[in-house]
Amino acid sequence: MNPRKLLVFFNLLIIYTPVYVSSQNVNLEFPFFSLRNLSLLGDSYLRNGVVGLTRELEVPSSSSGSVIFNYPISFFDRSTNVTASFSTRFSFSIDNINPSSFGDGLTFFLSPNNQTLGSPGGYLGLVNSSQLTKNRFIAVEFDTKLDLHFNDPDENHVGLDIDSLISIKTANPMSKAIDLKSGNLVTAWIDYLSDKKKLEVFLSYSSFKPDDPILSVEIDLSDYLKDVMFVGFSASTEGSTELHYIENWSFQTTGFHPIRPRIHPHNVSDSTIPLRPPIAVSDSGNRNHKRIGLGLGIGFPTFFCAVLVIFGYVSVKKWRGIKTEKSLKAELMTGPREFNYKELKLATRGFHHNRILGHGAFGTVYKAFFMDTGSVSAVKRSKHSHEGKTEFLAELSIIACLRHKNLVQLQGWCVEKGELLLVYEFMPNGSLDNVLYNDSQSGEALKWSYRYNIAVGLASALTYLHQECEQQVIHRDIKASNIMLDGSYNARLGDFGLARLMDHGKSPVSTLTAGTMGYLAPEYLQYGKATEKTDVFSYGVVILELACGRRPIEREGESQKMVNLVDWVWKLHSEGKIVDAGDERMNGEFEEAEMKKLLLVGLSCANPDSAERPSMRRVLQILNNEAQPVIVPKMKPSLTFSNSLPLSINELVFDSEDDCCGSPESQIEIRVD
Ligand SMILES: *[C@@H]1O[C@H](CO)[C@@H](O)[C@H](O)[C@H]1NC(C)=O
Ligand SMILES: *[C@@H]1O[C@H](CO)[C@@H](O)[C@H](O)[C@H]1NC(C)=O
Ligand SMILES: *[C@@H]1O[C@H](CO)[C@@H](O)[C@H](O)[C@H]1NC(C)=O
Ligand SMILES: *[C@@H]1O[C@H](CO)[C@@H](O)[C@H](O)[C@H]1NC(C)=O
Ligand SMILES: *[C@@H]1O[C@H](CO)[C@@H](O)[C@H](O)[C@H]1NC(C)=O
Ligand SMILES: *[C@@H]1O[C@H](CO)[C@@H](O)[C@H](O)[C@H]1NC(C)=O
Repeated sequence: MNPRKLLVFFNLLIIYTPVYVSSQNVNLEFPFFSLRNLSLLGDSYLRNGVVGLTRELEVPSSSSGSVIFNYPISFFDRSTNVTASFSTRFSFSIDNINPSSFGDGLTFFLSPNNQTLGSPGGYLGLVNSSQLTKNRFIAVEFDTKLDLHFNDPDENHVGLDIDSLISIKTANPMSKAIDLKSGNLVTAWIDYLSDKKKLEVFLSYSSFKPDDPILSVEIDLSDYLKDVMFVGFSASTEGSTELHYIENWSFQTTGFHPIRPRIHPHNVSDSTIPLRPPIAVSDSGNRNHKRIGLGLGIGFPTFFCAVLVIFGYVSVKKWRGIKTEKSLKAELMTGPREFNYKELKLATRGFHHNRILGHGAFGTVYKAFFMDTGSVSAVKRSKHSHEGKTEFLAELSIIACLRHKNLVQLQGWCVEKGELLLVYEFMPNGSLDNVLYNDSQSGEALKWSYRYNIAVGLASALTYLHQECEQQVIHRDIKASNIMLDGSYNARLGDFGLARLMDHGKSPVSTLTAGTMGYLAPEYLQYGKATEKTDVFSYGVVILELACGRRPIEREGESQKMVNLVDWVWKLHSEGKIVDAGDERMNGEFEEAEMKKLLLVGLSCANPDSAERPSMRRVLQILNNEAQPVIVPKMKPSLTFSNSLPLSINELVFDSEDDCCGSPESQIEIRVD
């Protein structure tokens, strides 16, 4: 039996296992929408990964539509009488093309029927106006029209509806300064806790879940949550031009017990029964395999142990050192792959400008939707195809073999049509830079627990690069805009464009591409030499930024004076009030001890004297409370460069000109004051 067949076999096992249980938890994730797994009913449509629920017309019209996830979801387990809890998050916008016209709103619903669609107007696409009790549902409405018929309180409310549009309870999101039909993107979270019998709705203009719900209802939904139900969204207009869009969606149920196939242990040991394969997995003629088979009539528990026996057999094979292991590994591992140009062009709508996520040193970054697999990625496209080639290959060879939960994972590459493209995991929350300075202008500031977690994640990634991976990697370009944030705001270090591989112990290569001033260690500026200690310095600046919410070099108020963040924090430290450096936008909502620790670690990393900076491993231990913090002197040490440093300026310049590994366009920026 070759490995591929074995995998087929194993898959069958996975498919059959749920036969033993009636209900399991689900977890749906739609970072964008595709036709896969969704039914669009009525006037709803799909465009660019976004669902529009009502007709898009400039003239007033009446329309209704719904979108429903195709597969039924269990909410009740008969064998244990457990009712599931559920939680969902989605981002939507409601807009008017025609400002004088508005109505009616949208809903998120659960329904026993996979064809739920209602009438236009106040019926919100959920209730059939000629058969008011036909559609059954539990819905949360986001209503933008005052409908006296349904006892609506106003034209901007959120409400819980069960089988009727007369809400059980409503709330006005204006209490949190949210206008549903402003056209702005709104993110909603709906949680139902079946043990507490409570449903809560949260709303925010930002992607942070607020602490307080807009609507909270004490209610037992177990009478309404059927064995299986369908989930979806609906919306309607009535002689109006309101637009209803859903951008992304995730949905989970929790509370069911994990799957555990019921096998009587003492039946398992009986492996002497002659076995034959359960289905047409043809044997390619190796005689040794004939003894392994499975009688069809034996039933699933035996089937299960037969699989165990086969796996045992394979393990023995592996132990004997037969090639099987290698090919199995190759099958299971999903490393970076080569993409073709057409595929990437299609996924980015021909590199359309509204798919641009940002511009980096390497080139422009686009958001890509792969409709066939339903996945989303970020594609980096090099602007100078020719000159960028060395840089590209350097980046590729380094990152292809790096794997860490706090690094942005490379998914593939493409070299075609004179262009160089890199495909990365998509990071829904963008860069730290953006979240720290742009996002927080509109909504809430990044919470302390996230900030601390980012500092720890980043330390962990750098410990890996510096000390744990096969060949030491110096990043050289650590800055807030290179730190990406995943869906749960975990730090993901990206952009290895400037990194050069270094064999452990060898002298570093003395090249310097333009970095960003405030992040560069003094000895780096002086001698242009990157070491792990220069990375530690940049890390220190980033975590000071994280704690203070200030850029590394910032203009002081209205004046022309530029303030260096490290100097500013060090001054507060020498005055004994370092905690005052904490970001004011958090309104004091942080752990003071943690804040102090982070600021002190930041200062110790940003020590001008490289010998005094801790290693990344030490930093990680300090942040995880596994080591004592480094003592930070009250006065910032001043530094004089001595000749004891390994390279003189002359040597350095000479070195860089001869440098075989540096790409031709690397610039040397050495400032000798
Ligand atoms: C709706 O469910 C029925 C069975 O419950 C199924 O036959 C039908 O295909 C489903 N329709 C869609 C669009 O999924
Ligand atoms: C579930 O509830 C039904 C009716 O209330 C009851 O008859 C049954 O024994 C319960 N089953 C379990 C496993 O609790
Ligand atoms: C409402 O129900 C009637 C009768 O069953 C049906 O003809 C009509 O299509 C339904 N309307 C909607 C919007 O589903
Ligand atoms: C396994 O053993 C138990 C206890 O002897 C017995 O009740 C059960 O029927 C057996 N199952 C099979 C599939 O033989
Ligand atoms: C579609 O549904 C299948 C089965 O429920 C699931 O494995 C797959 O991930 C879903 N695809 C998307 C894009 O949600
Ligand atoms: C959902 O989409 C909006 C708009 O595109 C985006 O701002 C938000 O980050 C997305 N959320 C997630 C979790 O993908």
